[in-house]
Amino acid sequence: MSSEAPAPSKKATEPILYGFPSTDDLSQALANFVLAAQDEALKKQATFKIAISGGSLPKVLGKNLIGRSDVPWNKWEVFFADERVVPLDHEESNFRLNDENLFTHVPIPRQNIHVIDTSKLDDPEAVADDYEKQLVASFVGSSSIAFPRFDLVLLGIGPDGHTCSLFPGHPLLNEMDGWVAWLDDSPKPPPTRITLTYPVLNHAHRVAFVSSGESKQEIMEKVLDHPEEGLPASRVKVISPGRVYFFSDEAALGRVKYERTKFEDSSKL
Ligand code: 6PG
Repeated sequence: MSSEAPAPSKKATEPILYGFPSTDDLSQALANFVLAAQDEALKKQATFKIAISGGSLPKVLGKNLIGRSDVPWNKWEVFFADERVVPLDHEESNFRLNDENLFTHVPIPRQNIHVIDTSKLDDPEAVADDYEKQLVASFVGSSSIAFPRFDLVLLGIGPDGHTCSLFPGHPLLNEMDGWVAWLDDSPKPPPTRITLTYPVLNHAHRVAFVSSGESKQEIMEKVLDHPEEGLPASRVKVISPGRVYFFSDEAALGRVKYERTKFEDSSKL
């Protein structure tokens, strides 16, 4: 995917923006994109390593992915880009959200879905440490040295420009050593969460932001047209040849001037 020149006018470090007439078009393209990333990963290694956020993403992701035939689900290994420190069956759990929208519909082996250790819920630092250990165990022996290299990280964008659980002005924006960090002062409830850090996001093969709906217009304009403002989502700068992608419906892009790239069929990714 990263070997293709996506748009002649785009520098390798600039994000690719795909705009779609409807959320369903977005969802279909996203499914193609995810499966293209999967195919590329499985040419080189035994598993496809993906990290997924919460919010509105799991629904858009699951909608057109669950019906796809010939997906080697047993080769998927799933982490959460961020997770709320709550029981797995809690209505605020990102695991639960992804479970309802994707996992219960497809045969990903449960041991390949990396959940937080719910025996440590009263100690978020221990939850983050355990999750980091799960990452280390999975990525050790792969080509990554200092940081894991996810094949794909799927993220949302909040109205204040946060992504993962990296919020504007928060000290975690400066965390450059750990792989997984914790916070108990998230401005978006619930307050206690764990999150992947920037170096992990930035070492991924590709990071795709997914956003839809008119309510996202203002923040999409800021993130795409004014990255110099340094909002958390704009700070995701994947190291080349990795790449940042935005998948948005045109409702979310009403104010955005940033150049759109035509989404090509998955085989061309
Ligand atoms: C979380 C999410 C968070 C989310 C954004 C966007 O657990 O809160 O991972 O980062 O992706 O808040 O959410 P929406 O897509 O619902 O706007």
